[in-house]
Amino acid sequence: MLYASEPLAGKDSMTSRSEHFALAGVMGWPVSHSRSPILHNFLMREHGLTGAYVPLAVKPDHLEIALRALAPLGFSGCNITIPHKEHALAIVDAAEPVARRIGAVSCITVRHDGSLLGTNNDAYGFIHNLQQQQPSWRGDAGPVAVIGAGGGARAIVYALATHGTTEIRVINRTFARAELLSRESGAPITPIPWEERHRAVEGVTMLVNTTSQGMVGQPSLDLSLATLPVDAIVCDIVYVPLQTPLLEAARHRGNPTVDGLGMLLHQARPAWKSWFGIDPEITPALRAALEATL
Ligand SMILES: NC(=O)c1ccc[n+]([C@@H]2O[C@H](COP(=O)([O-])OP(=O)(O)OC[C@H]3O[C@@H](n4cnc5c(N)ncnc54)[C@H](OP(=O)(O)O)[C@@H]3O)[C@@H](O)[C@H]2O)c1
Repeated sequence: MLYASEPLAGKDSMTSRSEHFALAGVMGWPVSHSRSPILHNFLMREHGLTGAYVPLAVKPDHLEIALRALAPLGFSGCNITIPHKEHALAIVDAAEPVARRIGAVSCITVRHDGSLLGTNNDAYGFIHNLQQQQPSWRGDAGPVAVIGAGGGARAIVYALATHGTTEIRVINRTFARAELLSRESGAPITPIPWEERHRAVEGVTMLVNTTSQGMVGQPSLDLSLATLPVDAIVCDIVYVPLQTPLLEAARHRGNPTVDGLGMLLHQARPAWKSWFGIDPEITPALRAALEATL
């Protein structure tokens, strides 16, 4: 695999592609739950692009052949979602340093020569959403508790470490996975066993749920907020439903909260810059269009 990052597709590339149908999509399995097509097709209409952003339901065994088909089919790129993010890193021809550090690819750009450049915009989306919803947030304000150690957690830990957080408590059901994340990420992580989760939020300045718990069809996150300071920010990266039971419980006791929808919305900016050479604004109208579907 090449690791050198080449220039991304810029305005010139969109100009040359503008005679064609602009194509992008989201590749996952399952993928029908994804709100990304609503988001990107809204932006395409807003920016007057003739094209489409489509859901690409690709089974894990077919990931490589599907990714290799992007260039001949005329795609500018695609987003990558569960369960393909880690496997995609092994397939792309080049990867941005952020994708290598996180260990997963969330976005692919098809370069002019048809090769695939992978990056990860999850951390970017998380930070920009957090800064928008809680403008006074500072990464160096104090300890942060991250619940979960999967792909989402990897991006959150990277985002926190690169914004000055010096104590990240990673609490995961499978302790070995929290330990692995601590070893591989190079971030200042204290892995904490699941049984100790209720006390582990004591004294933190922010709590982030990155598990699937609280998502529609899943039970609520089993976490007591009794020892959580009332001024700690509570974030959930789950966005279906928008107000998860965790966020409702936090809001009820007076904690400031940040929902997960903005993390998805903000990821559109770097993706569009790379695919189409356009920097789209994340407007209230765009958010409202997605909220209407939740
Ligand atoms: N807002 C956004 O833009 C955005 C971006 C990325 C992800 N997400 C959302 O974040 C969630 C997680 O995604 P992911 O990619 O990180 O998934 P993942 O890699 O599969 O990780 C899932 C995490 O949830 C934990 N978990 C699963 N079932 C659990 C249970 N019953 N009790 C306690 N912990 C449990 C897992 O713990 P174990 O290690 O013990 O299995 C693991 O830490 C999904 O809902 C996804 O939609 C949102």
